[in-house]
Amino acid sequence: MIKIAIDLGSSMTKIYRADSGNGVALAEPSCVAVSGLERSVKAVGKDAKKLVGKTAEFTQIVFPVHEGEIVDGKLAAEMLKEFLSRVGVQSRMLKRVQTVFAVPCGASQSLLEDYRLLAEECGLKKVLFVEVPYLSALGSDLVLSESNPVFTMDIGGGVTNVAVLSLGGIIAGLSMNLGGHNMDANIIEKMARQNGLNIGDLTAERIKTEIGSLSEKARASTVAQGSSVETFYPASIAVQSAEIADCIRVYIDKILEYAGMVLNQLPAEVAAAVNKNGLCLSGGIAKIDGVAEYISGRIGMDVHVTDEPQFAVVLGGGMIARDQRLYNTFAKKYAE
Ligand SMILES: Nc1ncnc2c1ncn2[C@@H]1O[C@H](COP(=O)(O)OP(=O)(O)OP(=O)(O)O)[C@@H](O)[C@H]1O
Ligand SMILES: [Mg+2]
Repeated sequence: MIKIAIDLGSSMTKIYRADSGNGVALAEPSCVAVSGLERSVKAVGKDAKKLVGKTAEFTQIVFPVHEGEIVDGKLAAEMLKEFLSRVGVQSRMLKRVQTVFAVPCGASQSLLEDYRLLAEECGLKKVLFVEVPYLSALGSDLVLSESNPVFTMDIGGGVTNVAVLSLGGIIAGLSMNLGGHNMDANIIEKMARQNGLNIGDLTAERIKTEIGSLSEKARASTVAQGSSVETFYPASIAVQSAEIADCIRVYIDKILEYAGMVLNQLPAEVAAAVNKNGLCLSGGIAKIDGVAEYISGRIGMDVHVTDEPQFAVVLGGGMIARDQRLYNTFAKKYAE
């Protein structure tokens, strides 16, 4: 039996192979370059992302998963099939594959149906869908039990999942369409408005990743290249961390408003346990300097981030894929 876990993120797809070598076997941008009216696939993953904003008229870059929803089922399937083959799962092997597949917290029936259709289209027969909060908790090395509730927040490219859960179930939780992508768009807007510079999506993401910080002490700077808003000629300017901090902070503040709604629903004993255990933060945005400290200050709790927060969800999926007892526990839970 081949055992894998898939985290089909809005920004990055991660695949874990639990049967050979146990580890993350793939992490590639969830995007596809298509050309012509027939939309034939030209490149998938890293090679497609390099082309964002640079394609000629007849080539288009598509992110088939947007804000956690499958917006282009056909291309999502082509992309995932290609990724499966890159981790050594060829189509003739698909009958023998057991998959743990991450889905947003509280995913609606229609969204789950889209994920089911996608898995079917890819030829995956035995698939267990598990909500992100369980996976990010497990992948961040939290011990899940019935009696010790944990508080998790995963901030990705397009979706944030917030939940308080135990092995018994999600006590309160939600997913919302907020993430790194909003921050990138905000950086683009700010650079145009304040500096008169038009920049592309890749540049905005690079600025966020390189100098994004919510720390008061941040002094990093980088050069942003694009074109002048006035003349449309190529232009570049230096950007400081402090100039883009607000583009990040406003979305963290929005996320914390929703987190407050989750915490408000907790019974007193659960709230007490959460306060003692603190928050487990994961997702790519947890890597931004100072974000964990900022959240900790705002909610008045310890915030714990693992070494590889962007992989927490797929690592959690891998743990379930590897451990048949845990797999059975979740299979039973989702069959109820
Ligand atoms: N070192 C870094 N510093 C800042 N941001 C980063 C860093 N690495 C990745 N990111 C950002 O994290 C986001 C991607 O995170 P992640 O892989 O957790 O999202 P995803 O799982 O693909 O999407 P989602 O879960 O929202 O559907 C992107 O916005 C990316 O720019
Ligand atoms: Mg994710």
